[in-house]
Amino acid sequence: MAAPFAFFTVIATLLIVGSFAFTTLKVDKELQFTYSGALGPDRWANLNPNFSLCANGKSQSPINIVTDQAVLNKNLQPLIRQYHAVNVTLVNYKFTVAIEYPDHTGGITVDEKQYVLKQMHWHSPSEHRIDGKRYAAELHMVHVADDGKVLVVATLFKYGHTDPILGKIENKLNELGYEVKGQEAGPIAVGTFHPTELRETPRKYYRYVGSFSAPPCTENVIYLVLAKVRSISREQVEALKAPLDMRCKNNARPCQPINRRHVEVHEGN
Ligand SMILES: *[C@@H]1O[C@H](CO)[C@@H](O)[C@H](O)[C@H]1NC(C)=O
Ligand SMILES: *[C@@H]1O[C@H](CO)[C@@H](O)[C@H](O)[C@H]1NC(C)=O
Repeated sequence: MAAPFAFFTVIATLLIVGSFAFTTLKVDKELQFTYSGALGPDRWANLNPNFSLCANGKSQSPINIVTDQAVLNKNLQPLIRQYHAVNVTLVNYKFTVAIEYPDHTGGITVDEKQYVLKQMHWHSPSEHRIDGKRYAAELHMVHVADDGKVLVVATLFKYGHTDPILGKIENKLNELGYEVKGQEAGPIAVGTFHPTELRETPRKYYRYVGSFSAPPCTENVIYLVLAKVRSISREQVEALKAPLDMRCKNNARPCQPINRRHVEVHEGN
């Protein structure tokens, strides 16, 4: 009965990968990977057979976006975002801090497909670069469609005035920072939160196909990188770093080769 078993294994693996590799985003006592040292980005593929794409993948993230090589695509649509106010939780994964959304948060429609917002997390410094420039921080809003396809909306931040969205969770973020080292960090209820409150509709954005920027580096992820760089205060960046593992304080994966990919741009108006 080897064949049916193998078949089942393949289906199960596809379901796990399809329905989301967040399964790897569980709060482990021991981190499976870090951003420096023996478990750092150049070793990720060696740490677990499931992480092989981190070295072998041909469409990995993040990338440096060279703006004058971005291809204008007039078929790209303005972003239509339909999020609702929902109760969310804040989780410290030790390599990033994340807000977890319930299923009824709403989402974004791209290529006539509905992507539901599941989670958002921060990197500092930024992972993507624009014409070689690295920014202070980057927000990834992770969306998943019914068929398992993943779309990430990335926002870059430069140092400046406070970010209002982060301002709404700053007290809770500080609670995460105060948690006793070594103690199991549970999710913290944040209360009602609106993902796009105080944000205008983004116009210009870059689009390319990449991967999760952390193991298992799963590919075929659509990235929409917003061209408008927002502001974040130094205190807010410190608050994002404070709860993280020492080896993950700078949780940005280095830029990956673009290979045969093209970055497209939607100009907006
Ligand atoms: C690889 O991923 C599969 C499916 O998620 C899991 O069952 C398996 O334990 C993982 N292997 C390792 C070494 O973590
Ligand atoms: C959030 O949770 C509180 C307390 O359980 C509840 O009163 C409130 O209606 C919830 N808000 C939303 C938007 O679900």
